[in-house]
Amino acid sequence: MTFSGIIVAAGSGARAGGDKQWRDLGGQPVLRRSVEALLATGAQEIVIVVAPGAELRATETLAGLDGWRAAIGGSTRAASVQAGLAALTCPPDQPVLIHDAARPLLPRAVVQRLLDALETHDGALPALPVADSLRRGRQGFMDGVVDRDGLWRAQTPQAFRRGVVEQAYAVWTDDHPPADEAVVVQQHGGRVALVAGDPRLMKLTYPEDFAMAEALLPRQTR
Ligand code: CTP
Ligand code: MG
Repeated sequence: MTFSGIIVAAGSGARAGGDKQWRDLGGQPVLRRSVEALLATGAQEIVIVVAPGAELRATETLAGLDGWRAAIGGSTRAASVQAGLAALTCPPDQPVLIHDAARPLLPRAVVQRLLDALETHDGALPALPVADSLRRGRQGFMDGVVDRDGLWRAQTPQAFRRGVVEQAYAVWTDDHPPADEAVVVQQHGGRVALVAGDPRLMKLTYPEDFAMAEALLPRQTR
């Protein structure tokens, strides 16, 4: 199946101590790993969304890789995704995988599950069941328990036909930006499939996540 990709890399990485997408992970910059992984799944074109002024850095970081183009992101992830959608050249019915640069390990099998699910759904996202028991807490005290039955941890890439996700964003009226595209499409009435996620799709959020992700790298590239 022909599909396109968007990799959002315009965040500041504040919780990781800054600039996480440019940092080294086992000998390669995080962004380069994310882009190489998505290219390897066969994406026809990839738009990389970076912060204003970071295009040159992207060009240097991705030297030697073909099939990608840069776009300039916004102040929220949702704004960056919309900038990426606007920069695509594919037709409205083409599937697009929207992916966080901060998830550099992308198993091929997940992409296949997403594309398969798009045959029968308006969107698809990888997710893992919540393993720990969940508590509500306030000011250091436990305040209740949350039933984890039916709760999932959402990952990326998330898959949609380009026109479906663009239309859903066009009518998003909440004051708050959405967590991700699956929320936007689902709230617009779309049926969004949950497909099996993968622990390797962990997001680099805090400084300690880098060591964990490095341990999950395929042995030959570690
Ligand atoms: N992102 C983006 N544009 C933004 C904010 C986030 O493209 N305005 C991207 C990030 O670069 C990242 C992905 O969205 O690849 C997931 O976001 P997150 O993990 O929250 O990254 P940051 O926003 O960079 O980190 P933090 O929230 O800790 O500042
Ligand atoms: Mg963020």
